[in-house]
Amino acid sequence: MTTLFKLTTSIFGDQGQSTQLVERFATSWLAKNPGAKVISRDLGLNPPHHLEAPAFLASRVPAADRTPAQNKLLEYSDSLIEELRQADVIVLGLPMYNFGISSGMKAWFDHIARVGVTFMYTPQGPKGLLPEGKKCYILATRGGIYAGTNRDTQTGHVTNFLSLIGISDIQFIYAEGLNIPEKKAAAIEGAGAQLAQWLG
Ligand SMILES: Cc1cc2nc3c(=O)[nH]c(=O)nc-3n(C[C@H](O)[C@H](O)[C@H](O)COP(=O)(O)O)c2cc1C
Repeated sequence: MTTLFKLTTSIFGDQGQSTQLVERFATSWLAKNPGAKVISRDLGLNPPHHLEAPAFLASRVPAADRTPAQNKLLEYSDSLIEELRQADVIVLGLPMYNFGISSGMKAWFDHIARVGVTFMYTPQGPKGLLPEGKKCYILATRGGIYAGTNRDTQTGHVTNFLSLIGISDIQFIYAEGLNIPEKKAAAIEGAGAQLAQWLG
C-alpha cells in the first residue's frame, strides 16, 4: 500500500497558507491513489521539544548497550523516524519565518538526524539510510519574494538535509509575495496551478 506523509509546519495550523496547499495536494493525490495510507504530523501545532544532550548522547551508544533510560530518551526520535520510513510520498508545507524554516521543523531535523539510523559516514561523505525511492513535494510559502536569489535560505538548507538522510527526489513550489496585497491572490493561484500540473 502506498503511504502519503503530510508534514505541516505552519504555526497557524489549518489556517496556514502552506497547510492549505498541503491539503489541496493531499486531496488531489488521494483522488488518484484511493486506499492509500495517510500519516499526518503537524510540527506547528505540536512542535517537537528541543534536542538536548542526554538524548543526543544516548543516540551515540550502540543500540545493544543502551540503558532502559537511554532507550526511553530515544522513543520520540524513533517514532518520528518510523513515520518517515513508512512514507512513499512526502508533502511538506514550508512557511518562511524570519528568513528560515520554522523552529518546529528545525527541532524535527535535530531529532531525525541519527548516525547509523538515518545516515552514516563513509569515506566518500555522508550516505542516507532511509529506504530509497521516496518522493518529496515541498510547498513553500513566503511573505516576500526570494526564490532563485541568495536570500532564499530555505531551498538549499532543506534540500541538503533531506539528501543527507536519503531523500533526494524533491520538487518545490513557491507561493511568494503573500504579504504583498497585489501579489497574494496570483501567488496562491499560481501554486495551485503548478500543483495540478504535478499531479497530472
Ligand atoms: C513569525 C513570522 C515571521 C515571518 N518571517 C518572514 C520572512 O522572514 N520572510 C518572508 O518572506 N515572510 C515572512 N513571514 C510571512 C510568512 O512567510 C507568510 O505569512 C507565509 O504565508 C507563512 O506561511 P503559513 O501561512 O503557512 O504559516 C513571516 C510570518 C510570520 C508569522
